Formats: sequence, C-alpha cells, structure tokens
Amino acid sequence: MVIFAIKIQLLPMKANTPKQTLAITTKIVLPNDTNTLGNLFGGQLLAWMDVIASVSAHRHCKRVVVTANVNNVSFNKPIAHASIVTLEAKVSRAFNSSMEVFVDVFVEDAVTGQRSKSNEAIYTFVAVDQNGFPIQVPELIPETEEEISRFDGALRRKELALILAGKMKPADAINLKKLFEIE
Ligand SMILES: CC(C)(COP(=O)(O)OP(=O)(O)OC[C@H]1O[C@@H](n2cnc3c(N)ncnc32)[C@H](O)[C@@H]1OP(=O)(O)O)[C@@H](O)C(=O)NCCC(=O)NCCS
Repeated sequence: MVIFAIKIQLLPMKANTPKQTLAITTKIVLPNDTNTLGNLFGGQLLAWMDVIASVSAHRHCKRVVVTANVNNVSFNKPIAHASIVTLEAKVSRAFNSSMEVFVDVFVEDAVTGQRSKSNEAIYTFVAVDQNGFPIQVPELIPETEEEISRFDGALRRKELALILAGKMKPADAINLKKLFEIE
C-alpha cells in the first residue's frame, strides 16, 4: 500500500492545454433559481460557476481542489426565468499549487435560440492532499490568442488577489506594478 502511494507521487505530471480542461454545463432557469424580479438569483449563478470551475481545475490536476479566491464576477445583464444558460470553464494558468479558471456564461434566448455572453468570472483553485495541504499541479500550455492573453494576465491577477487577501505586500507585486508604469 505504501509502495503504491510512493509510485503515484513519482509519476511525472503531464502538461495540459486549456482545451483539455474544458468543462461545460447547461442549465434552465427554474422558478426556484430566481430572485424577486423573476430573474436568475446571483448566488445561484455563483454556485453553478463554482462547481463547473472546480470540474475544470480537477480535469487539469486530477486532485482534490478547493476554491481559494473568486475574482472579477460581472453581472452584465439579468437572466430571465426559463432561459437556457451554458457555463464554460477552462484553466487559464497553472502556478505551483494554484490554478486560475475562467468561466464564461452564455444565455440562449428561449424563443430565437440566439446565444449571447452574459457573465464572466475568474476563480482560483488550489490542489490539496488528503490533509488539505497544497500540492504541485501540472503545467498549462495556452494555444489560442485568447488563451495566451488570459495566461499572460493571470500573474497580475494572482498578485492583486494576494495583496487584497493580505498575503503579499504591494511593493512585491512586480507584474502588477508594470501595468501602472507610465512611459
Ligand atoms: C486555499 C488554501 C489551501 C491555501 O492554503 P495556504 O496555507 O494559504 O497555502 P499557501 O500560502 O501555500 O498558498 C497556496 C497557493 O494558494 C494561493 N493562494 C492562497 N490564497 C490565495 C488567494 N486569496 N487568492 C489567490 N491565490 C491564493 C497561493 O498563491 C499559492 O499558490 P501557488 O502555490 O500556486 O503559488 C487554504 O487557504 C484553504 O484551505 N482555504 C479554504 C478553502 C475552502 O474551504 N474553500 C471553499 C470555500 S467555500
């Protein structure tokens, strides 16, 4: 049993592309999911996003993952009762034990079937062992223009999240500071 566990630990970690981490779910907005205006309740959407983002993070590292941070959730337009909602999640960057995951939310018009983007959220998950301690995750290799752009911005967002969480001094946020440098 111990030898088996050691073998697992020594297996080389395989890098993935964001496409290999894609997780998709489609929901219909039922009366129980709505607020007093009859639109999708924001907390329900957050729960759906958290679940699908965690599936994506798990697809990347194949380990238990926990939500460490939720960043930049935007509710751009209300989503009406009976709408069909599709959530697509992909890992945008992997660090040591943490992974950034983008969730794009699309709404399908119940009558025309036309699909439009309604929301976006950025989650951070951390892979943990059976004792809840962070563990190493595989590398992520972006391919498309959008994946490269999200990969490039992820370090700045990580620095910002750590500053807001009180885990990093602003002076140490080298990549974030570059964003504000005036040429
Ligand atoms: C997430 C958790 C495992 C991190 O543990 P920790 O002791 O802070 O570990 P570390 O400081 O070593 O950080 C581990 C990684 O998490 C990242 N991290 C920690 N807090 C973060 C935050 N607020 N935002 C973004 N990333 C964060 C660190 O940058 C580090 O990433 P890296 O290894 O890729 O460089 C721990 O805080 C935890 O268990 N939180 C509760 C998770 C949970 O219950 N989620 C569900 C909430 S409903």
